[in-house]
Amino acid sequence: MSRVVLGIETSCDETSVAVLKDDKILSNIVSSQVEIHARFGGIVPEIASRNHLKNLPIVYRKALETAEVDPHDLDAVAVTQGPGLVGALLVGLSFAKGLSLSLDIPMVPVNHLQGHIYAAYLSHRDLTPPFIALIVSGGHTEIVLVRDGFKVLGKTLDDAAGEAFDKVARVLGLGYPGGPAIEKAALEGSDSKYDFPRALLSDGNFNFSFSGLKTSVMYFIKKNPSCSISDVAASFQKAVVDVLVEKTLLAAEKYGIDRVVISGGVAANTCLRREMSDKAISKGLKLYVPPKNLCTDNAAMIARVGLEKLSEGNTASLEINAEPGLQF
Ligand code: KG4
Ligand code: ZN
Repeated sequence: MSRVVLGIETSCDETSVAVLKDDKILSNIVSSQVEIHARFGGIVPEIASRNHLKNLPIVYRKALETAEVDPHDLDAVAVTQGPGLVGALLVGLSFAKGLSLSLDIPMVPVNHLQGHIYAAYLSHRDLTPPFIALIVSGGHTEIVLVRDGFKVLGKTLDDAAGEAFDKVARVLGLGYPGGPAIEKAALEGSDSKYDFPRALLSDGNFNFSFSGLKTSVMYFIKKNPSCSISDVAASFQKAVVDVLVEKTLLAAEKYGIDRVVISGGVAANTCLRREMSDKAISKGLKLYVPPKNLCTDNAAMIARVGLEKLSEGNTASLEINAEPGLQF
C-alpha cells in the first residue's frame, strides 16, 4: 500500500514543507531566511520564529500544489520535534497539530538529526545499515553508528563545524552564512599556506573540538592584518576537513563498517565531499553523500523518517511538546 506523507521542518532558519509518496519526493519546498539574518551576522531566534509563522502556510500550499496532492490524500504529517530553536520548532509543531486535527491523520514527531541521516536514503535507494554517519551542520557535529538503532560514537565538545565556519567567516569579513562564503574565498587560496591546529586528531576517539581552531584563526588575523584572506580561508577549511575525514574513516575501520554517509549543511562543502570521497575509495569504503539540497535543512528528510515511523505505528498524541535539546 502506498503512503503519502507531508513533512514540516522549522528547526532553524529554513521553513520547509515536502510531500513524499513512499520514498519518492513529490515536492520539497525550502524558504530560506538567510538574507533576513545575514544583516545580524547570525540567526536571531525571535525573528526566525516570526518568519516561520508568516511563511509556513505559503510554503505548505506550494508543496501541495507542486506535488499535485490534495490535503485529504495525506496519510500522515511528520514534523521536526527537535533539536533546534524552541520558538521555531513550536511554529512547525503547532501547524502539524492543526493539520493532524483538521484532516484526522496521525502526526509523527521526528528527530532532526535522524532526518539528516535519512537524507541519504532518499538519494541512495541501495543504502542499508550498518553504516557510519557523519552529521555536520550549524548546530551539530556527530559520528553515529547506524546499525540496529543509533549509537553516537563521538560529537563536538564545543562548537559545531558549521558554527566554526560561520564564526571564522565573520572574523574574515566574509558574511553569513560562513560555510559557502569560506568555500568560495578558499578557491583562490592555498590550503597549505598556514598550519592551523587540528584538535584531538590523534586521540583515537571520535570527539571533535573546533573552538581552539576558531580562536587560533582570530589571533592570526589580529597579528597579521595584511595576510591573504583566501589563504586563511583555504587553510582553515582544510584543517576542519582533515579532522572530519580522519575521524569518520577511523570509526568505520574500528567498527568494521564499509559504508559511510555524510550529511548536514557542511556536507555541502566541495572540499569535504572530495577529500572524504578520495580517502574512502582508497580504503575500499563506499561513500553515500546526498545532493547539496538534501544535505542542508529540508522537509523531505523529515518526511522520510516519518514514513518509516508511520509504518512502525510510531505516531504521537497531540500533547507532545517541542524538544530543543533532543538527542539520539
Ligand atoms: O544543516 P544546516 O542547513 O542547518 C543546521 O541544522 O544547522 O547547516 C547549516 C550550516 C551553517 O553553519 C553553514 O555555514 C554550513 O552549514 N554550510 C556550509 C556550506 N554550506 C552550508 N559549510 C561549509 N561549506 C558549505 N558549502
Ligand atoms: Zn540541520
